[in-house]
Amino acid sequence: MPIFSGFFLTFEGSEGCGKSTQIRLLRERLEKSGRKVEVLREPGGTEVGESIRHLLQHAKEGHSMTAEAELLLFAASRAQIVREKIRPLLESGVFIILDRFLDSTTVYQGHARGLSLESVRAINAFAIGGTLPHLTIVLDMDTQTAWQRIHATGRALDRMESQPRDFFEKVRQGYLDIARAEPRRVTVIDAARSEQQVHDDIWNLLSTRPHAL
Ligand code: TMP
Repeated sequence: MPIFSGFFLTFEGSEGCGKSTQIRLLRERLEKSGRKVEVLREPGGTEVGESIRHLLQHAKEGHSMTAEAELLLFAASRAQIVREKIRPLLESGVFIILDRFLDSTTVYQGHARGLSLESVRAINAFAIGGTLPHLTIVLDMDTQTAWQRIHATGRALDRMESQPRDFFEKVRQGYLDIARAEPRRVTVIDAARSEQQVHDDIWNLLSTRPHAL
């Protein structure tokens, strides 16, 4: 059995971009190649985090939440998962796929909700304590297509999915800004193509990264 080093990959993107499908395809292929993989999500991924997730997404009392409280709850969930799961898993050589991480807070609470980007940066830094992903993939898609995909599901929308369309335009532009600012960590992939094409791009990208495959 080869000995692998841990790898920390995060997926980002607006709702409807196909994140869940790509995470599933990548997990399957990594496992076939012999890697031990752990898929986690934010908010959530720990018991504390899953309670926070419920409060943020579905609880009745969440509807009166201020943007500041929302930011701190996302950060609290992150502080927990970093210490309880991510660091120990990385040390034991696991390939971690995390569905959303600090960049979600930067774009949703910073760019889209309009909280100070400086405050968001400081709170994110405190929550992660230096544990940054080796690679972040932003699945990018035009807002119109993503919007139609969410509404086509026919299921009840959660608190964030019910935001107006221009909110998601800000989310998209926020991600593109981060990718421009941090090109070594963050790669944007065009998600408005077939599942297989997007997956192939992700795999090719990983094959260029040390310790990933
Ligand atoms: P999802 O991961 O199931 O798409 O849902 C998470 C929702 O929470 C999504 O609308 C993005 C939002 N979110 C934030 O607003 N800030 C954050 O820091 C994170 C992790 C998620």
